[in-house]
Amino acid sequence: MEFIKAYLAKRKNENTLRTLLALDTRGPGVIVRQGQKYVDFSSNDYLGFSKHPKLIDAAGQALDVYGVGAGASRLLSGDLKLHHLLEEETASFKHKESALFFNSGYHANVGVIPVFAGKNDAIFSDSLCHASQIDGAILSRAKRFPFRHNDMEHLEDLLKKERANFEKALILTESVFSMDGDLAPLRSLVELKERYNCVLMVDEAHATGIFGNQGRGLVDAEGLSEYVDLIMGTFSKALGGFGAYIAASRLITDYLINSARSFIYSTALPCSIIAANLAALEVCKTEPGRGPVLLNRAQRFRAVLSKDDWDVSGESQIIPVMIGESKTALDYAGILLEKGFQVLPIRPPTVPEGTSRFRFSLCYEHTEEEINKVVEAMRELRRYHVG
Ligand SMILES: Cc1ncc(COP(=O)(O)O)c(C=O)c1O
Repeated sequence: MEFIKAYLAKRKNENTLRTLLALDTRGPGVIVRQGQKYVDFSSNDYLGFSKHPKLIDAAGQALDVYGVGAGASRLLSGDLKLHHLLEEETASFKHKESALFFNSGYHANVGVIPVFAGKNDAIFSDSLCHASQIDGAILSRAKRFPFRHNDMEHLEDLLKKERANFEKALILTESVFSMDGDLAPLRSLVELKERYNCVLMVDEAHATGIFGNQGRGLVDAEGLSEYVDLIMGTFSKALGGFGAYIAASRLITDYLINSARSFIYSTALPCSIIAANLAALEVCKTEPGRGPVLLNRAQRFRAVLSKDDWDVSGESQIIPVMIGESKTALDYAGILLEKGFQVLPIRPPTVPEGTSRFRFSLCYEHTEEEINKVVEAMRELRRYHVG
């Protein structure tokens, strides 16, 4: 076990050691830690759906009817009508013919990517793709060609040089990037995928619920649902629940049922979660104003921080503020915590060395006063601690 001790000591030295928080409780926009309440800017519960009464009610009713666990995988006796209903509703929400549910976004990416690319194939992926997409690509054993973030010229250069050397090719991107909060040039990606005969898979984990009409995502907002072969999205972030889907043609979902190992070899999600997810889709339609309110608020928040000379970026509810060194980011986060704000720094290896950052994620439930106060706390940080 010496190698473990050495590894942990090294991570501690580098200020990259990860530890857990063990919160007393959390709610949208707030956490309670050791009896102390903090405004939370680090969750993906963007719309506050995790505590929405309609989701809680739906989950509770399903719990009474179906019990706790699903009992088996979907291909054994864990496949209930409720799972199918959620898949039908999700397909229609995403304007695709069909949808297949996975136990998490991680399961979806590591399960689906190896189905579409094998050892004679190529994967062209944005260099900021999520770890679950990268892991899916590694598992696939395909030759990997990362392209510079959102750089379509670089992607086209790679396609020109390499596409003909491989049988199948898959292009991977996120629509809203999880750490940088910016948007993929989806139209250009569709053009390239058509020109070079590739399959395009778009991860909408951070767009679902926020972008597009009633939160249908960025692919839908751009009118591209028909052209993106595989639309992946999660219920675990803005939709406040759990699990993920691939929305695609029926041909593809039938194929995935037979080939995606993370779908085949894992117990189905419990019906309480499936029912809450169904309720979340309903709330997206009945309360469609939350996403636009949040995006508007994020825009103003970004403008104020930028005016205060912070290096701010993003085009979504995710607002990265570049800090630089890991230790500095940790120190600043500690200062904000003392003032009542949880803004967890994102550090290597999640982001490249020297680009540690605050990743403010706004939540619909944050009040105007809370936002103003965190802006003031950032001003004080600049006044007394920066440079
Ligand atoms: C872009 C992206 N894809 C996939 C996932 C994984 O989703 P889940 O948390 O449902 O496993 C995440 C979550 O961090 C993500 O940010």
